[in-house]
Amino acid sequence: MVKVAPSILSADFTKLGEDITSIRESGCEWVHFDVMDGLFVPNITVGVPVLKSVRKFTDMFLDVHLMIKNPQNLVSAFCDAGADMLTAHIEAADADGLNSFIETVKNKGKLCALSVKPATSYEALVPYLENLDMILVMTVNPGFGGQSFMPDQLEKISRLAELRKKYKPELLLEVDGGINPETGRMCVQAGCDVLVAGSYFFGSEDRKLASELLHKTVE
Ligand code: DX5
Ligand code: ZN
Repeated sequence: MVKVAPSILSADFTKLGEDITSIRESGCEWVHFDVMDGLFVPNITVGVPVLKSVRKFTDMFLDVHLMIKNPQNLVSAFCDAGADMLTAHIEAADADGLNSFIETVKNKGKLCALSVKPATSYEALVPYLENLDMILVMTVNPGFGGQSFMPDQLEKISRLAELRKKYKPELLLEVDGGINPETGRMCVQAGCDVLVAGSYFFGSEDRKLASELLHKTVE
């Protein structure tokens, strides 16, 4: 069963609680929380204090996508603030930094993922696969919501789905960027289990219907 993770980047931050409630009421499973530092990506969003408030507000699964340089230096604070899944970018640190990120997340008892930008090969992930719970494939260049899906990333998803079959069947594959029922269906067909949707979900007048259509991509 595919899971849907609406990205609060497209929420109205003056009524974040209501928007998070709408995620639950629409039948989506996860809350996707985008953290940007203005260095790794050319944009700044929210951080630890907002995550703490969201954690107090909901018991939903919090999927924290760190688009920050050297995530190993800050990940502990995000774990303590209540994240359930922590995702860092493979391009954001050297191998020592990434291993330290993974070790901290595991020691804190949380789930751990790495993400690849569109220009990064899936092969870069291979050395880390056995220690990961999920891989996040970006289908836009990270930094902003509302961009168009890059269909050339579908092959990367298929390759990762093949690798997973061989080495780690329980590994989740998540996709983020330009997801709507149509692009989501392509990703699910290629092997994705989790669909992040920002502007499509929050821009829909009927979020319950949006959730149903995104979940239907599985048929
Ligand atoms: C982009 C973020 C995404 C973003 C997706 O860098 O990681 O999670 O919110 O937004 P849409 O679904 O509008 O592409
Ligand atoms: Zn994201």
